[in-house]
Amino acid sequence: MSLPRPLIIGHRGAAGEAPENTLASFELALKQGAEGIELDVHLSKDGEIVVCHDPTLDRTTNGSGWIFEAVYADIRKLDAGSWFDERYTGQYVPTLGEVLDIVPDHILINVEIKHSYEGRMEKAVLELLRSRGRFHNVVISSFDHKCMLRLKREEPLAAIGLLYAANLGSHAGYARSLNADILSLHPQHQLIGADDVAEARAAGLRTYPYTANSEADLKRLIDAGVSGIITDYPARLAALLK
Ligand code: G3P
Ligand code: CA
Repeated sequence: MSLPRPLIIGHRGAAGEAPENTLASFELALKQGAEGIELDVHLSKDGEIVVCHDPTLDRTTNGSGWIFEAVYADIRKLDAGSWFDERYTGQYVPTLGEVLDIVPDHILINVEIKHSYEGRMEKAVLELLRSRGRFHNVVISSFDHKCMLRLKREEPLAAIGLLYAANLGSHAGYARSLNADILSLHPQHQLIGADDVAEARAAGLRTYPYTANSEADLKRLIDAGVSGIITDYPARLAALLK
């Protein structure tokens, strides 16, 4: 039996070639053949779901400070592109709603919750997805597994994924021990091999390892039969899958 071909999932869009977590980065990922995108979210002071990896604005914008201490109207004025390349000057920090607007329904969106903000983040994300009727092809993931279990209890329609960078022993066994309906495992890519993937598949779990970029790593994961690969270079993975 031949293994299914993995989904191409653009990490923070196409973070290797465009400023991460900007609309330009997501658009580039789609242009390069990504079938899914991964992004990170934080909550602003006024409760907007802000697409940014770090809890502060310092590294990826021309501003500074904590996202939770800033209102979105101020965050929106910042340049989130020129730090990466002058060509991207004018890119801004988008909201999750804006990303939903530009990403077609057939593309998987992996929303990574970086921080729960005392439960306010889960509520905000669920409220947005409910208002858009967009639970199909969205998976919410986090390193905070308790947060994911709370979210799933609150909204059974939401698909959840477990992120981890530690060796958990049996990946599928760990997921089973949580006694919840989990869609996908998102291990740091070196942690997972063909046997783990097979065990996960038999348990009805998808495998979306992160963040593999070199040809050798991408090829290893393709051969292991993973369900999808989260990569900064969607075009590189697309070329390997041709
Ligand atoms: O979601 C996979 C991966 O993005 C998790 O690590 O630090 O890149 O958000 P990080
Ligand atoms: Ca992430």
